[in-house]
Formats: sequence, structure tokens, C-alpha cells
Amino acid sequence: MRVAFTLNGREVEAEVEPNTLLVALLREGFGLTGTHVGCDTGQCGACTVHLDGRAVKSCLILAAQADGRSVLTIEGVAEGGTLHPLQAAFRDRHALQCGFCTPGMVMSGLDLVAHLDSPDEAAIRHGLDGNLCRCTGYRPIVEAIAQTIGEKG
Ligand code: FES
Ligand code: FES
Repeated sequence: MRVAFTLNGREVEAEVEPNTLLVALLREGFGLTGTHVGCDTGQCGACTVHLDGRAVKSCLILAAQADGRSVLTIEGVAEGGTLHPLQAAFRDRHALQCGFCTPGMVMSGLDLVAHLDSPDEAAIRHGLDGNLCRCTGYRPIVEAIAQTIGEKG
């Protein structure tokens, strides 16, 4: 079957099987390997992308479900070589160690930055509930998200 959607701001099309997962299409079809696969079962959050502006786990979404919609991956977050303020906050606060969870953390963090009105730590931690970091670097991640929420206009 054919799917057509917006991927990081450009219109794309692909031929997929009905059971092709969105994460597989992104990684293998479009070479966007910044979206990681940690578990393939919806538990780790490494595969988090945005679908129509909200964070979703792309290992739980069929590629067919993206048809006609808008997908943003970590590769589409920086604009013109300039890091998004949240990415810069991750860098400045050393909010990553091995980096495996980082794309998913950033994508979930961007959802929180867009939808939380204040940098409430409990709300941020609740929002990151589905994202696991095996390096246990949660505190600087939460701080980076809180900083970015606090700075937004
Ligand atoms: S790979 Fe999707 S949640 Fe772990
Ligand atoms: S930085 Fe290593 S898994 Fe999070």
C-alpha cells in the first residue's frame, strides 16, 4: 500500500506493507536512524517521534497510520544548523551520557515544552514516564526541559 505524509517538513511517499511499523519506515525507508529502537514493545521511548505535533512511540504506530499526517523526527528539530533551544539545553546541562535515549527524550521533551505552561518538575517527570534512560541521567534531562519551558515566550 502507498502512504503519503509530511516528514520533517517535506512531502514524502512510500510503498509499505500493511503491518510495517512507522519506526521501520523511518529508519529503513528514509534512513532516519536518529529514531532509535530500544525495545520494540512500547516500553523505552527511544523511538519517540511527533505525529501531528504530539509525541508518539513509533514502534507502536503503523506506517499506514501516518498517511496524510505530519511526522517530525529528531533530524527535523534543528533548523538551518541551529539547535532548538531544548537541544542546546541538553548540551549545556550535560543531559546525556551514551545518547541512546536522547532523541526520544528530546522528542518527548519538545511535546512538554509545547504543552506545559510552567516548568513544574512533577509534571515534567510524569510526561517523561514512558522514556527510559539506562544511564540514569534523569535529573539534567528534567532540568533541561524545565529551563526551556521557563524561557519560552
Ligand atoms: S523502541 Fe519503541 S518504545 Fe522502545
Ligand atoms: S544517556 Fe544513555 S540511555 Fe540515556
